[in-house]
Formats: sequence, C-alpha cells, structure tokens
Amino acid sequence: MKNLVILSGAGMSAESGISTFRDAGGLWDKYPVEQVATPEGYQRNPELVIRFYNERRKQLLEVKPNLGHEVLAELEKYFNVIVITQNVDNLHERAGSSHVVHLHGELTKVCSSYDPNNGDYVKELKAEEYEVKIGDLAGDGSQLRPFIVWFGEAVPEIETAMRYVESADIFVIIGTSMNVYPAAGLLNYVPRSSEVYLIDPKEVLVNSSRSIHVIQKGASEGMTELLSRLCK
Ligand code: OAD
Repeated sequence: MKNLVILSGAGMSAESGISTFRDAGGLWDKYPVEQVATPEGYQRNPELVIRFYNERRKQLLEVKPNLGHEVLAELEKYFNVIVITQNVDNLHERAGSSHVVHLHGELTKVCSSYDPNNGDYVKELKAEEYEVKIGDLAGDGSQLRPFIVWFGEAVPEIETAMRYVESADIFVIIGTSMNVYPAAGLLNYVPRSSEVYLIDPKEVLVNSSRSIHVIQKGASEGMTELLSRLCK
C-alpha cells in the first residue's frame, strides 16, 4: 500500500463546531494568544490558562467528528495513512484514524509544569476529570498543566513527523493557514516524486514552488473529493 501522510489544522475540525484560530471571529480574536498559549502567560496567570483549557476540554464532550475526519479514517482501507495534526482535539482518533501524531499536544492530557515532556508525568484524563483545578499536582509535585505545546516551546514530535513526511507517496494539507512553524515547514520534506494536495475553502499561501493539486473546499466536501480522485 502507498503511504498517505496528511497534515491537518484547525479547519479540519471547523465543521464539527470548533473554531479556527486565525479566521475572523477565531479563537485568537477572543483570547489573546500571549495570555493563553505561551509559557509566560501561564506563569503570569495560571488560573486563566487552566480555565481556558478546561473550557476547550468541555467543548470536546459536545462535538463529534465530521465527514472529513470520517472519510480520512476510511482511506485506511486503501492507504497506509499517517495523520500529523496541529489540532489538540481527539476527533481524528474518535473518527477511527489509527495513527495520529499530535504536533501541538493533546487536550485530553495533562503534564508536569516543571518538565512538560517528561512522559512519567503525562497523564490521560478521563472525561469526568476534564476540569483541572489549581492545586491538582503532577507526580513530581508541580501543578498539572495542559499537555499543549505553547508558542516559544519545543515541538518534540516534529522529528517523528519529518520521518513520516519523507516516506509520503501522497501528502495532503488540510485546514491549516500554514502560518505556524515548524509544522508548515514539513512540506519541504515531501519527496519530489510525491503528489501534494491542499484542501481549504480559502486560498492558502504556501511557501513552496512545487506543484500542488488544490481542492478549494471545506473539509467534508474536500475529503470526499480527494477520496474519489485517489480511488477512482
Ligand atoms: P488557522 O486558524 O491558522 O487556519 C485555519 C485554516 O482552516 C484556514 O486556512 C481556513 O481557511 C481553514 N478553514 C476554515 N474553515 C474550514 C473548513 N470548513 N474546512 C477546511 N478548512 C477550513 O489554524 P492552524 O493553521 O491549524 O497552535 O493553526 C496552527 C496552530 O496555530 C494551531 O495548532 C494553534 C495555533 O496557534 C497552538 O495552539 C499551539
């Protein structure tokens, strides 16, 4: 089977009712990114940051995967599919995708404030534990913090993601404005001989001279079209 590697962003989950970040009315309009998605913001006001991610987790219980996630999971019948996502939701997994790399962390997990990437202290929350409180501690005695890669922090999964991208026969970019690095730079690791598709209802400026098949549609329609183009 051919390797199909997909890079997804917030637009993948938009039709499930989760807002994107940079579209008008997006999350970063409502919550200043430096307050809720940087280590400095967390140091300044941990209550605010913990509350922000508690709300995001609560929303996870109210949304479900959309047709785009489902079609992607279905593609596993025809391809070796690796999902590399910038999304911190769990909708790819819930739709049935079996191999998901989360570049920016996972809402359903918490970790140590001292050492966020120490796997010994990363904990998966059950739905009834989704509300983290000040005073809830990791195994090393530090405050439990969201397992999210904030701006200015290292992206530990990027090396794994690069290796997958280098093995791609088909590379698909969906629902990302390609503004955030190192995720956006993954396109540079796609072999020259591979086919690249980009699905987004808006025009996305991509920093590459290679030829790209653009499907200018939302995630559900766009993934359905991709399936019919790849499996005709
Ligand atoms: P953005 O909000 O920057 O971009 C969302 C993209 O989704 C845009 O290109 C939209 O046109 C597109 N879009 C909107 N509706 C769509 C739909 N129905 N179907 C498909 N696409 C649609 O989000 P990301 O590129 O994912 O990081 O942002 C990257 C990172 O920046 C995020 O992971 C987050 C953010 O700050 C962290 O929180 C660490």
